[in-house]
Amino acid sequence: MKKFSHKTIEKNSGLLLVLSLIVVSIGGIIEIAPLFYLENTIEKVKGMRPYSPLELMGANIYKREGCTLCHSQMIRPFRDEVERYGHYSLAAESMYDHPFVWGSKRTGPDLARVGGRYSDEWHREHLKAPRSLVPESIMPGYPFLMEPLKVYDIKAHLKALRIVGVPYSDEQIENAEVDLKSQSDPDSDGAEDVISRYPKALVRNFDGDLSTLSEMDALIAYLQVLGTLVDFSTYDAKANLR
Ligand code: HEC
Repeated sequence: MKKFSHKTIEKNSGLLLVLSLIVVSIGGIIEIAPLFYLENTIEKVKGMRPYSPLELMGANIYKREGCTLCHSQMIRPFRDEVERYGHYSLAAESMYDHPFVWGSKRTGPDLARVGGRYSDEWHREHLKAPRSLVPESIMPGYPFLMEPLKVYDIKAHLKALRIVGVPYSDEQIENAEVDLKSQSDPDSDGAEDVISRYPKALVRNFDGDLSTLSEMDALIAYLQVLGTLVDFSTYDAKANLR
C-alpha cells in the first residue's frame, strides 16, 4: 500500500486545500465558539445607562466637531494612565456609544473621565476660547456652540438607537422631547423626571444662559457625565470575571 506521506499531500493540491481548510476551521471554531455560549461578551457593569437626550445630542456634537481627532476616550490599564486619568476604561462604559469614540490620537488629554473635573463655566470658557484659560493650548475655539441646539426628531433618534441595542424604554422614548429641554432647566417641572429616568443625570443650566437651549448646553452635559456613571469605589473587577 502506498504510504500516506507529506509528499502525497504536497503533490495533490486538492487534498492540500481540503486538509488546510480543516486545520484552519479548528482554529476558527476554538476562537468563535465561546461567543455563542457566553451570555454576553461585554460584562454589564452596575451604573451604566443609555445617554439622556441632552447628553446624546452632546455626544453627536462631539463627533460632528471631530473632538475625537485630538482626544481619546479610552484609559489603558497602565500605571501612568491610571494615575493621571483614573480607573482604566471598561468595555461596558462605551457599550451605548454608536459609533464609539475611543480615538487613536491624543493631541489633548484623554476625556473618558473628564466628568466633574471642571465646572460648567470652565468648560464654557474653554470651549469658546481655550487660550483664555490655558495660554499654551493649541485647541481650536468653538464659540459658535452658543447657537441654539437644532433637534430634528429626538424620539426617532432614540428609537433608531434601540434597534441597534441601546435599551431605551418606551417611557424614555415617549418623554424624550421634554427630557431634552428639562435637563438644562433645573426649575422646570420635568427636572426631577430626568433624574429618575436617567440616574446620575445632571440637571443644570450648563451654558449659563437660560433663554436658549444651546449646543453648548448639550456638549457640556455630555462632557460632565463622562466616566461618572460607574461607581469605582464599589466596583470589583474580579466579581465581573465569572
Ligand atoms: C487640534 C486638537 C484638538 C481638538 C480638535 C480639540 N481639542 Fe480639546 N484639547 C486639546 C489640547 C491640546 C488640550 C490641552 C490644553 C487645553 O486644556 O486647552 C485640550 C483640552 C481639552 C479639555 C480639558 C481636558 C483636561 O483634562 O484638562 C477638554 C474638556 C477638551 N479639550 C474638550 C474638547 C472638545 C469637546 C472638543 C471638540 C469640540 C475638543 N476638545 C477638540 C486639543 C484639541
